[in-house]
Amino acid sequence: MELHNLFSPHKIGNVPIKNRIVRSATAENMADEGHPNDQLIDLYTELAKGEVGLIITGGIAVDPSSTFSKKGTSLHSDGFISSHRKLVKSIHSYDTKIAAQIGHTGRQSSNRRYEAVAPSAILYPQTGRVPRALSTAEIREIIIPAFVEAGWRAYESGYDMVQLHAAHGYLLGSFLTPYTNQRTDEFGGSTFNRTKILIDIYHSLRDEVGKEFPIIIKLQTQDGDLQGGLKLDEGLEITKIVYETGFDAIEPSGGGGDLIGTDLLLPSVAINSSEEENYFLQTVKAIRTLTDDCPLILMGGIRNPLSAERFIQKGITDFISMSRPLICEPDLAKRWKSGDHSPALCESCNSCYYSIVNSTLECILN
Ligand SMILES: Cc1cc2nc3c(=O)[nH]c(=O)nc-3n(C[C@H](O)[C@H](O)[C@H](O)COP(=O)(O)O)c2cc1C
Repeated sequence: MELHNLFSPHKIGNVPIKNRIVRSATAENMADEGHPNDQLIDLYTELAKGEVGLIITGGIAVDPSSTFSKKGTSLHSDGFISSHRKLVKSIHSYDTKIAAQIGHTGRQSSNRRYEAVAPSAILYPQTGRVPRALSTAEIREIIIPAFVEAGWRAYESGYDMVQLHAAHGYLLGSFLTPYTNQRTDEFGGSTFNRTKILIDIYHSLRDEVGKEFPIIIKLQTQDGDLQGGLKLDEGLEITKIVYETGFDAIEPSGGGGDLIGTDLLLPSVAINSSEEENYFLQTVKAIRTLTDDCPLILMGGIRNPLSAERFIQKGITDFISMSRPLICEPDLAKRWKSGDHSPALCESCNSCYYSIVNSTLECILN
């Protein structure tokens, strides 16, 4: 079987991407005081040389309190633009596009120099902290502008697009989930109100960056086994609202830190057999029926290029994205393109997660 579809070009907005292989956002812990460092440039260069079509950066903090790892990247002030420019420029010398994923850790922040904030004051068991509930004015005047300004800085840095991190229990994702959003103002209550923060960020950012710069989203569609959490049927309603708002591509996801220690560890599920691969496929199939013209990025347990080829050929998804397999094999896309169609070597052991707690991103297999 040839991988014609997987290696055919496609677009997000007007941005051409040479193939359908995306590196899903992965925190690398490779920044110096928020500035991408040479180690990060080297890592992305490996991915670009390895024929990834689109790299989505690890979560970039929109606020000083919200870096995704101890040495995570930031775009919370203009002072970060030049170091991000350098990173983007080096990747553009290969035929690879790059998206900045911007986010805020919110309730799941482990940085004790700052207070944790969230839609509602619900204990986060992993840190033992109860976040402070944001006021309506803070959401309007601080949080939304922080995302808009960081998005604008991503544009100024030369990124090809920006991705909002609205998943995995971090700040934006926690607005979507009834368990963590118990507000009664315009940002809580109904499905629409819980999604409103995404709509407001989209429109304000669109005003800043113009029509041509894609704004894409990694979107919480379900909370897994979390009691009182977001269920897929409501996740699909949220996805429809997001699609109608105008987001240029959707990467559906789910899960978060509340379930750490349980078996089902969304978003990064342990895969022990081929049946367990592609674990957001049913979600993406359901979303496809809602969104005929919005590019979808299927993420989660993609390991086999022949399955990925079929999903694209059948029109179920436009792109596939991978995180752990590309930590293990940054040249995976190139290997598949060269005719070696054996599945990714990644064993989904999740040791990469532990690597970023005290060190830089690595895989114990390579
Ligand atoms: C070490 C590590 C760091 C991650 N960091 C991020 C992140 O910064 N932003 C994000 O949206 N997802 C992050 N993820 C989740 C991945 O993007 C992806 O959604 C998940 O691992 C499932 O895809 P996979 O089976 O290809 O690994 C991370 C995953 C891992 C393993």
